[in-house]
Amino acid sequence: MAELQRTFIAVKPDGVQRGLIGEVISRFERRGLKLVGMKLLQVTKEMAQTHYGEHKGKPFYEGLVSYITSAPVLAIVLEGKDAVSLARQVIGATNPASAAPGTIRGDLAIEIGRNIVHGSDSPESAKREIAIFFQDSEIISWNRTAESWIAE
Ligand code: RTP
Ligand code: MG
Repeated sequence: MAELQRTFIAVKPDGVQRGLIGEVISRFERRGLKLVGMKLLQVTKEMAQTHYGEHKGKPFYEGLVSYITSAPVLAIVLEGKDAVSLARQVIGATNPASAAPGTIRGDLAIEIGRNIVHGSDSPESAKREIAIFFQDSEIISWNRTAESWIAE
């Protein structure tokens, strides 16, 4: 039985600068994931270092922190059955050069260092990441009237 989950998504600075916010949100909405939190913010160096803590020490780490703090990011929380893996499927492989057509990265990007969007890799990561970007009061529980047309 699929589990109801929340996942953390971010439209990264390249996605915001390229005017792709609507395109990205639209793909998740159309898939059937429910938007329960969203805000535009400038990520601080401290937030970036916490968010990407698992990558500290890797060759791309410094560049990654400077990329994610270089312009505003759209932070999003999505909810749905198996939302974490579903959202990763919509996003596509980490490296856009090998991401499948039909995915966000496969359709809209060409390089790993400018891959438009972030998605949590597990329900545990999602909880951790949501807490970095959102207060509990900023996550909205709401009834979607189309629910029964999306999930049984
Ligand atoms: P994300 O966290 O952004 O959803 O992406 P992911 O799980 O598919 O990839 P992850 O391994 O967590 O890497 C986080 C981000 O770091 C950048 N990266 N650059 N140059 C490189 O070799 C390299 N490897 C990773 C990408 O922006 C990636 O999304
Ligand atoms: Mg990741």
